[in-house]
Amino acid sequence: MSARDLMDTMRSRTSVTKYTSEELDRNVIGKILEAARWAPSAGNMQSWEFIVVEDYDVRQRLAQYAYNQNHVREAPISIVVLGDEGKAESKYGDRGKDLYMLQETSAAMQNMMLMAEELGLGSAWVGAFQEEEVKDLLNIPDELRPVAIITFGYPRERPEPANKYRVTDVTYLNQYGSRLHAIYDKIVWHGVKEYTRKAKNALKEKFK
Ligand SMILES: Cc1cc2nc3c(=O)[nH]c(=O)nc-3n(C[C@H](O)[C@H](O)[C@H](O)COP(=O)(O)O)c2cc1C
Repeated sequence: MSARDLMDTMRSRTSVTKYTSEELDRNVIGKILEAARWAPSAGNMQSWEFIVVEDYDVRQRLAQYAYNQNHVREAPISIVVLGDEGKAESKYGDRGKDLYMLQETSAAMQNMMLMAEELGLGSAWVGAFQEEEVKDLLNIPDELRPVAIITFGYPRERPEPANKYRVTDVTYLNQYGSRLHAIYDKIVWHGVKEYTRKAKNALKEKFK
């Protein structure tokens, strides 16, 4: 896969909240889980575990505890991502428990969502849910924290890409507050022509 293909996949992934009822092949779910496994983790601790929820009744209860978000109800599967606080803490103390575990599980989640996109599926990250209720529902042991739910399925509707900040809006050079030159906005392949034009003009200005 070229850098351009990867950029296309990242750009085309949008949060899908409308799914068809088509079931997901086990092989497809396997690929998504395999993608999670290759995420980075502090000291390679891999403080993550996953619950694939496909049972209809469990999905309905899960949706109820996710403030009745309809896509949790509708998606043929959801994956509940668990962070192993005990494991992360055992090696890195509070920083492991409060920070690394969240970073690791998030990296695994993004891997899964990008793989889903490559497989033609939609997905959405769900952070808003009642943790204790979800723990009870899924029999999750105390030392594990349900960090997020990701819904997966074939999209019934794909939203337009969300507006995103430009690179130069959110990045500094060497120290906070020192703006990157607009040339960094040139790092696009297609689809953001306006930024490219602006960057070219800025360069022309600089070197004329
Ligand atoms: C930490 C976090 C929590 C989120 N919680 C929810 C949620 O509960 N329900 C939902 O539909 N989307 C949720 N999202 C998805 C965001 O709304 C979505 O990523 C954002 O609007 C940008 O859109 P995009 O994913 O299409 O780029 C969450 C995303 C993150 C990273």
